[in-house]
Amino acid sequence: MTPLPDGYRTVAVPHDRKTEFLAVDHLAFAFEPDEKTSEIVPDTLEWDRTAGVERPDGTLGGVHGSFDFDLPVPGGEVPCSGLTFVGVRPDERRRGLLSAMIDFHFARSLERGEPVSALFAAEMAIYGRFGYGSASDDVRLKMPRGAALRDVPGSDALTVRIDTADMERHRDLVQSVNAAAGAGRPGWIVRASDAHRRSRLADPPAWRDGGEPLRIVAVHDESGDPRAYALLRRKETWGDAGPCYPVTVRDSAAVDAAAAHRLWSFVLDLDLTSEVTTNMLPVDDRLLSLLVDRRGAQPRLTDNLWVRLLDLPVALAARRYSAPVDVVLEVDDARLPANAGRWRLATTDEGADGWAAEVSRTDDEPDVRVDVRELGAAYLGGRSLAAYADAGLVTELTPGTLRPTAAAFSWPLAPLCPWVF
Ligand SMILES: CC(C)(COP(=O)(O)OP(=O)(O)OC[C@H]1O[C@@H](n2cnc3c(N)ncnc32)[C@H](O)[C@@H]1OP(=O)(O)O)[C@@H](O)C(=O)NCCC(=O)NCCS
Repeated sequence: MTPLPDGYRTVAVPHDRKTEFLAVDHLAFAFEPDEKTSEIVPDTLEWDRTAGVERPDGTLGGVHGSFDFDLPVPGGEVPCSGLTFVGVRPDERRRGLLSAMIDFHFARSLERGEPVSALFAAEMAIYGRFGYGSASDDVRLKMPRGAALRDVPGSDALTVRIDTADMERHRDLVQSVNAAAGAGRPGWIVRASDAHRRSRLADPPAWRDGGEPLRIVAVHDESGDPRAYALLRRKETWGDAGPCYPVTVRDSAAVDAAAAHRLWSFVLDLDLTSEVTTNMLPVDDRLLSLLVDRRGAQPRLTDNLWVRLLDLPVALAARRYSAPVDVVLEVDDARLPANAGRWRLATTDEGADGWAAEVSRTDDEPDVRVDVRELGAAYLGGRSLAAYADAGLVTELTPGTLRPTAAAFSWPLAPLCPWVF
């Protein structure tokens, strides 16, 4: 790993350096928000969790921050440091600034008692070397207008309204439906801070790309309770054959199948439109099961959440397991040696939410050898350790131990974080 150049050092970056912090990020990501956008979009950063690398002249060469999250894991929840706003000035690239910031981020997260870190990766090749594993995928669909759905009883009894989305008026509706829709799904981080809840509905004109203001489609039941929503925009477009407006859904959630059916039936049948592109959905989303022609919905798969186990025994004991297992893992972790070595993972009691486990140091012979990156990838239950073994990335040392280990780590619901942070 590249050490920092002489005279460079990692530092906390407090709120009074906000302008400087953001300037580095804008340079790294090649954008500059206009004044109106900055006014409208809430500042979500937690300024006691922002940091960077200072150069010898005292200016910042790189920055990052993190959010204080509760990460849903199979059968439970774990404190998680959500890494964000990672940027290094283009003229300081490949000099070890990110590496130094990652060490700083790990140390500070562990000090705060956060056994796990998670992130969305701008590019897939960046974070594996630091022990982050790609722990989930998401799918986006591009459905033709009128795409048929299989029937769901109760859908017709629900009502639908469309309005212009409003940060103040719709914040609570969206939050409550979203949280209920994701209950029990690993990775489904709910927006805890007010700034994050408001930013979900932010709609500065610069983000509209010629489309209409952000609209909200809300589904209610007979007693008036919200059951589903979609935040979307249409874009006026005329072709040789007439109107062909695309519909782009930014965010959606539904608490059950009837609500999802009502929501998507409405969105798929808007006048003047030709196709609907969905937001990020879990790979087992019910819409995929309801579509008569899934192939026609052109599913596009991409990586979703990345997970890094920082305090391995605490992290592994914080989740539940799908089946009983007693296995000795030989873990490689070049960056955090406290995690490396042999760990016995043994399930204890079975509860309604799966098997609890104890994780302890051992000198016993190892059964399965795994890098912390693959363990992070399998942590949310959405990637198979057996598939990694098949790819040569995990090794079964004791015959017959891989299958039960992989089965224990798996989970019935596919993981997804429904928003990019
Ligand atoms: C990605 C970024 C943060 C990397 O910062 P950096 O200071 O150049 O990274 P480092 O010098 O510490 O590199 C550490 C290692 O990662 C590798 N690496 C860094 N960025 C990489 C990338 N985009 N793709 C592949 N490898 C990369 C380096 O080659 C180096 O490898 P080595 O240890 O074998 O020498 C920086 O290039 C950047 O700001 N890019 C634009 C914004 C961005 O993508 N941010 C990430 C948001 S999730």
